[in-house]
Amino acid sequence: MEFLTTAETNTLAGLPASQALRDAAPQGGTAGGHGVRSREPRTLTITAASSNPKMFTLPWEHPLSTWPQDLLANLPRGISRHVVRFVHVGDDVYAMKEITRNVAEREYELLRHLQKLDLPTVTPIGVVTGRHDKSGEPLESILVTRHLKFSLPYRALFARNLRPDTAQRLIDALAVLMVRLHLVGFYWGDVSLSNVLFLRDADEFTAFLVDAETGDLHETLTDGQREYDMDLARTNIIGELMDLSSGKLLPGDVDEVEVGNRLVERYHSLWSTLTNTENYGPDEMWKIERRVNKLNELGFDVDELEMKTTEDGNRILVRPRVVDAGYASRKLLRLTGLDVQENQARRLLNDLDAYRASTWQDDEDLEIVATDWMRVVFEPTVRMIPPEYRSQIEPAQFFHEILEHRWFLAEKAGHDIPMREAVKSYIDTVLPKYKLDTADVEQLNAEADSGVVDDESAYNSNEDGYGSDEVDNDPDAAVWASR
Ligand SMILES: Nc1ncnc2c1ncn2[C@@H]1O[C@H](COP(=O)(O)OP(=O)(O)OP(=O)(O)O)[C@@H](O)[C@H]1O
Ligand SMILES: [Mg+2]
Repeated sequence: MEFLTTAETNTLAGLPASQALRDAAPQGGTAGGHGVRSREPRTLTITAASSNPKMFTLPWEHPLSTWPQDLLANLPRGISRHVVRFVHVGDDVYAMKEITRNVAEREYELLRHLQKLDLPTVTPIGVVTGRHDKSGEPLESILVTRHLKFSLPYRALFARNLRPDTAQRLIDALAVLMVRLHLVGFYWGDVSLSNVLFLRDADEFTAFLVDAETGDLHETLTDGQREYDMDLARTNIIGELMDLSSGKLLPGDVDEVEVGNRLVERYHSLWSTLTNTENYGPDEMWKIERRVNKLNELGFDVDELEMKTTEDGNRILVRPRVVDAGYASRKLLRLTGLDVQENQARRLLNDLDAYRASTWQDDEDLEIVATDWMRVVFEPTVRMIPPEYRSQIEPAQFFHEILEHRWFLAEKAGHDIPMREAVKSYIDTVLPKYKLDTADVEQLNAEADSGVVDDESAYNSNEDGYGSDEVDNDPDAAVWASR
């Protein structure tokens, strides 16, 4: 087996497992089996930015759809054409997607570029090529990404505890993602809810790109390219919502076409707020500050302002160069070291402000108050998350929900409620409702697999003993759905 880092090439032939795999690989290089191209390498090769030795111990010589259950994490997946599985690799969970080598390598590189640009995408781990089964037949390559913790595919969000505005909130998150991708020149080419993962972010969602297979990075995108991408998104999403609707998963009063149109409207409005050139009179410079503040409120940072005078010299043209979303989350990170979503950060910063005022520390440095707030307020609260839920809810989301719940309790009681009491009540009454159990996840994943178009039949013969294991009660199965 070869292990290639992007900077250098290491051949780890000394490893027994890798040697065994090298020996298992045929030297003749039979081409064509299972859609694998002829230039597929003859030995198993893992190309990755950093090494995780546990990767060498995985059963690469078996088709992904037959990997043993004890390696798999039972977490919900979205619909896909390819076989995708979540695999425990040491302490990590990786998403593995079985695809042809060219596609895997291309998607890996694209994801790496998008990560470098600080965009919300899944994190690429590596590409595994040169796979062969025991009889020497070539197998497809595998793209490995890190499982995006706490994320949910949209169908899981609709599976239960639905809040009536869930579809709208997902669309709003997707509009932000589209704007961010288009700003850096990324043309997606296959936008759909299935190609996005959602993270709960206070009362909203944040969308992450999960499938970059059809994408392309350009210097900049033309208006035509952007419009085409949005048009495709709209059509796909209307179709996906109609599909949910026919499965009785969409609330009756949601109009699929209206939601599809909303995406395009939200996108355009955000795009113009971020990129329009405005002109101001010489005595209207305060309006520039107002515009920057508005961009910050939307979560975007302004790197520089491009200013030009009009030809008659009477007005100033101003165009902001927006760098990135994450204004509040960067501020919170600086103050507390907490790395959370944008709306969660806003919520936590507000609570920090309230704490500062209520403890008469208005004149104290915010950094010092923040340390205090972490110790006295935030940490004791999130430490109360029951252990069985810790892998299921982000501490910042838990904290946000507790604040909401406390407010709700106080309103009902007509007086303030102590934090501990609010946490207890939340854990007893709200938390259990959000759980998807093992059966829910299995149903979602069976639906997700029904879209797989790979030639799996040859892999499912089960002659190697794989693929027949009963699904056990995997604790990972408890995942979170939306309200
Ligand atoms: N890193 C990851 N973290 C969490 N979930 C993931 C990850 N990678 C893939 N998934 C899940 O697997 C699903 C399928 O992945 P993906 O869309 O890349 O497959 P695909 O076969 O290329 O899809 P398509 O049919 O659009 O070509 C996603 O919708 C998502 O739910
Ligand atoms: Mg996909």
